[in-house]
Amino acid sequence: MFTELGCRCHLNKPGDEQTLQKMIPDKVPNKDVFHGSDDLKNEAHIPSFEKYKELYINSIENPDEFWGGVARDFFWKTKHTGPFLDYNFDVTKGEIFIKCMEGASTNICYNLLDRNVHEKKLADKIAFYWEGNEPGDELTVTYRELLQRVCQFANVLKSQGVRKGDRVSIYMPMVVELVVAMLACVRIGAVHSIVFAGFSAESLCERIVDSQCSLLITADGFYRGDKLINLKLLADEALQKCRDKGFPIERCIMLKHLSKEPEETVGSSSPPAKRSCPDLQVPWNPQVDLCWHTLIQGASDECEPEWCDSEDPLFILYTSGSTGKPKGVLHTVSGYMLYTAATFKLVFDYQPDDIYWCTADIGWITGHSYITYGPLANGASSVLFEGLPTYPDVSRMWEIVDKYGVTKFYTAPTAIRLLMKFGSEPVQKYKRESLKVLGTVGEPINPEAWQWYYNVVGEKRCPVVDTFWQTETGGHVLTPLPAATPMKPGSATFPFFGVVPAILNESGEELEGPSEGYLVFKQPWPGVMRTVYGNHQRFETTYFKKFPGYYVTGDGCRRDKDGYYWITGRIDDMLNVSGHLLSTAEVESALVEHKFVAEAAVVGRPHPVKGESLYCFVTLTDGVVYNNKLEAELKKQVREKIGAIATPDYIQNAPGLPKTRSGKIMRRVLRKIACNDKDMGDITTLADSSVVDHLFQNRCCTAV
Ligand code: WTA
Repeated sequence: MFTELGCRCHLNKPGDEQTLQKMIPDKVPNKDVFHGSDDLKNEAHIPSFEKYKELYINSIENPDEFWGGVARDFFWKTKHTGPFLDYNFDVTKGEIFIKCMEGASTNICYNLLDRNVHEKKLADKIAFYWEGNEPGDELTVTYRELLQRVCQFANVLKSQGVRKGDRVSIYMPMVVELVVAMLACVRIGAVHSIVFAGFSAESLCERIVDSQCSLLITADGFYRGDKLINLKLLADEALQKCRDKGFPIERCIMLKHLSKEPEETVGSSSPPAKRSCPDLQVPWNPQVDLCWHTLIQGASDECEPEWCDSEDPLFILYTSGSTGKPKGVLHTVSGYMLYTAATFKLVFDYQPDDIYWCTADIGWITGHSYITYGPLANGASSVLFEGLPTYPDVSRMWEIVDKYGVTKFYTAPTAIRLLMKFGSEPVQKYKRESLKVLGTVGEPINPEAWQWYYNVVGEKRCPVVDTFWQTETGGHVLTPLPAATPMKPGSATFPFFGVVPAILNESGEELEGPSEGYLVFKQPWPGVMRTVYGNHQRFETTYFKKFPGYYVTGDGCRRDKDGYYWITGRIDDMLNVSGHLLSTAEVESALVEHKFVAEAAVVGRPHPVKGESLYCFVTLTDGVVYNNKLEAELKKQVREKIGAIATPDYIQNAPGLPKTRSGKIMRRVLRKIACNDKDMGDITTLADSSVVDHLFQNRCCTAV
């Protein structure tokens, strides 16, 4: 089927043999590195560094062979005709485009479910062990049941007039029905746009309008630890805002998660929550609202999949943009499927008897790629967890690991740092014998947290895969492979197959050997985003303009003498709070919307658990006095505009901001003030340096 595969590297420089050979060292150091256990090496897909290097070079030189092998595991309704990857990565030579397996058609839902049920004999295998917020709230869903529920809900969507290419917004807690809703969209070729349930009504509205969604799927409410979130109330508020903006959505399907009646549990994939909430005040508008449970009654559990072209849109997921307006990152069908399947299999060294658990929320890309798509493509059994690592106590994660016998565990540095504060006792209360591989994602992991994860959680037995990637990259791009790559704490190590990184200096020159600069990629891989939804120009400007010929990640990176890559953090106006990207502009515009704020500037300040915290400087309008009430209002305003993750940690009243003579705010100076670091470097370009002294004297000492 793949004999005609080939790579047409349009107008682009393929990595030549010599550069490629140099990019991955022949030998990796033996000192100060950590190795996967022999047991792991014995069963691993990629058992040694030599094997990794050999396959890596082949993946770049013969992508047809490498990806053709991955593609053979999937069903294609029609075969592809053109080259495996066809692209232009250079803005000076024309429009940026990336096409993978053009001409082929398939359906991801069919590959994730029907094939596993009917061909791979996994019908009775558990797809998800759902573990609710409240200990004891649990259920299992097999592949067969998941297929039936997805088909049933796909028929519901069709009966509501949803067609191929339509956008559907999903705003739900971590319940099985979230996976059902997303795969039902995929089955009929509709494009899901999932909005994290921690985002505000305003953020939801902005995303619905930008992607012109025709339907919203939500739930009544959920608990996050002790806190009740009335999600429907927020969804209604968002829909009202949409109407106000002249974009009415007149259909909203609501799942009863907390307020379920006993008869509604029949045929439903989730039992009533232990901590059910029958008197939850759920606003209901019969003109707009539809009940999930009523709709699925009588809906057939068979639904022919819609065959989609390789480059048909699969989903949109919004990520922060440096202008403040979130970008709708668009992924397409075939490339994303192959990439998430391959990275999941190789980075976690997936084996059929694994119990895998990724603690991310499906509302973020990590949940898309490594809770839904990658694991289901491999026929894996996963834990789907609704709750928090600290509820009801700080042992919850390890209790769940033992309860299900979790073998591969994937979480974020912020969670590790949070749990680390409580010491090893809450971890050691549980055995964790089943664990084999640990993973992290979302932000650089500090070596201390890495060591704690490795030594205490994994008891020196489990390699830690520090996976660097982005919403835009679709899947892991720099990452160790657990049995093959000797690990250095804090380094994301080497590129995944098909990925060619480089480090550039400010003038756009590629640096060789040990160096530090901008992390870029020289050619596409199947999982890379295709465009910013509705704004291809923004896609080109954001990622390809600064250094023509390269995809620019926006992250800084260092390469050490052994060739290892170390992410040093964002180098654009982006902040990473608990692994969630926020743009300074986004928070600033929420602040200046307050009538008493004339100007705002936001910078990151290192935080021991969250990685970065938000330090905000506000200049008030003339005559207004700064006080606690105003501070509380500003915090509330940001929370309501963006969501709780963006709540400022510090707000400082700044009668003046440090600006250049041309009026540009010097954020570098503000970052120093936020950290109380008097080593200012060169500030001769400042228009008025007395502003800096004043700001230092009036720093916030405590978090608000
Ligand atoms: C950061 C999350 C260092 C980075 C999958 C990136 C990391 C941004 C790592 C993307 C890591 C993610 N080491 N930094 N292992 N993983 N990042 O789009 O700054 O939510 O650009 O995707 O997170 O965040 P996003």
